[in-house]
This record gives sequence, structure tokens and C-alpha cells, in this order.
Amino acid sequence: MNHFLDIHKTDPSALRSMIDQASSMKQARQGRPKGMPDDDQPLAGRMVAMIFEKPSTRTRVSFDVGVRQMGGQSMVLSGNDMQLGHGETIADTARVLSRYVDMIMIRTFDETVLTEMAEYADVPVINGLTDRTHPCQIMADVLTYEEHRGPIKGAQVVWAGDGNNVCASFLHAAGQFGFDMTFTGPAQLDPEEEFVGLARSKGSKIVIERDAMKAVEGADLVVADTWVSMHDAQSVRERRHNLLRAYQVNEALMAAAKPDALFMHCLPAHREEEVTSAVMDGPQSVIFDEAENRLHAQKAVMRWCLGL
Ligand code: CP
Ligand code: NVA
Repeated sequence: MNHFLDIHKTDPSALRSMIDQASSMKQARQGRPKGMPDDDQPLAGRMVAMIFEKPSTRTRVSFDVGVRQMGGQSMVLSGNDMQLGHGETIADTARVLSRYVDMIMIRTFDETVLTEMAEYADVPVINGLTDRTHPCQIMADVLTYEEHRGPIKGAQVVWAGDGNNVCASFLHAAGQFGFDMTFTGPAQLDPEEEFVGLARSKGSKIVIERDAMKAVEGADLVVADTWVSMHDAQSVRERRHNLLRAYQVNEALMAAAKPDALFMHCLPAHREEEVTSAVMDGPQSVIFDEAENRLHAQKAVMRWCLGL
């Protein structure tokens, strides 16, 4: 049984196999209606519970559709409607759910909820985003990059903005898949040193550059995310906007990257804030491929978790 808790906690060869399997599963169902089952039904007879303590569109729908395409059944649970949100312990919740379902996906705030769930569950647990990381997103992003540009190994990725949970999983991926990364943003919003150090310890070149224009020189991929995440207090909004305005991804910034640089954003985006519509809807943007690839990447993650 494998938990999928984080990219840096997962063996690089397993990560590579998941990306390759996601790609072949995607190709195998080209042109099929979304609700038509895959030829392979590895999740037949399996039940998957998805717990959401924060809002979601992509994670919720892509996991649900992915389970069904592979022949399984799924249920979406809102943390607030569960006893978990009213004082039942995580450990007891994990032990109870393990009697009903074959796998648990959870989106939560504090990552200790995720790790405790994994500790006490008898079934695999998948991280569907915490305040600290978002590994499923970056599996989809690696798949998307490779579809467009070939191997991500050796690529130059630039993260612009807040060094948040999605940025953290990108840094983990840099170490595991062997690419380099530059973070450009204000010092107050730097990514966690632990994660920067981890990527460097695995041989990735990680640069912190305060000048966004300089940062994107030579970039193969420019990535942005919201300036205020779901776990941030709304009161930080104005200050964040002031701090981050210089790091907006716009046409001028994209023009300073490699001519064929891609643009990614995990979505939801705030148009004209962290990124302009001209970039989001422009020729370098692959944001909707990224969103689609959540489905394909997570199907491979679920198979790996269940050893199928
Ligand atoms: N990118 C992402 O995780 O989107 P949702 O919040 O809609 O799930
Ligand atoms: N950093 C964002 C990602 C949303 C998918 C958040 O945590 O709100």
C-alpha cells in the first residue's frame, strides 16, 4: 500500500512511471466521451472517499471522473458535514473510513491532518492540497510540460509570485525530476528554506531573484498562482497586492523568457492580478491542458497507490 503524500516523499522512479502511465492512459482514450469507461478497469469494485475541507473545482471533479473511468465508485465528503469537523479525531475517522472505502483523498488545511490520516488509515491516502503542498497539481504540470516540450529534466522553470503550497511541490519536483528553478517574488514570500535546500541537495539549481525580468531570462516555463491562497486571511489581500504587483506575469514578462516558453497556472486564476488575460489566453499558455491533465495524472497516482 502506497500513500501519495508529497512528491519529495515518493521515489523518483515511481513518479516517472506514473507520468508515463498517465500519458499512455490519456492516449488510449483519445476521442472517447468523458463518461465512457477505460478499456482497463483497475478500480472495479473499489470505493474512494474524497474529503474536502476547502473549496475545489478541478480536484473534486477530476478525481471523481478518474475513479469512474477506471471502474471504481467515489463519494465526495465535505469536512464540515463530517464528525471530523465537529470534534471526532483524525485517527478515529481514518480507522472508520478504512472499514468502508479502499482509498482516501483529502484536501485540508494543516498538513498534520493529512499525515495523521495516513498514519491511522489502513488504506492509501492521497494529498489533494494542504496549506503547505499540492503534489497532484505538479504531477499534472510535469505531464503537461512533457507533452508540449519533451523531457522536463534539465528545463528551466520560473515561479513568479508567492512561494506558496504549489510552489513548494514544484520545488519538490525539481529535485525528483531533475530540473532547475528560479523563484522571483518579495523576500517576505520566499518559499520555505527546507524545500529550497532539499531541491539543491538533489542537484537542482535553485535561484532566488528579486528582479522578475532577470529571473525569466532563459526560462522554458513561467508559472504563476494566486497571490492570496485559501489558507491566507483575507486581511493580507491589500498588502499582498502591493508586494506582488511587480511580479505579475504579463506579455512584457513573457517576452523576456525564451521565445517558446510555456505559461502555467494551476487555476483558479485572478485575471489581471497575478496574470493578464493576454497571457492566460495567449499562444504560450497551456493552462487548460494542465487542468485536463489533473485527471490523467491522478488516475496513474491512484493506480500506484493501490498497486494496480
Ligand atoms: N488547481 C486546483 O487544485 O484547483 P481546485 O481548487 O479547483 O481543485
Ligand atoms: N495556492 C492556491 C492553490 C489553489 C489550487 C491555494 O492554496 O489556494
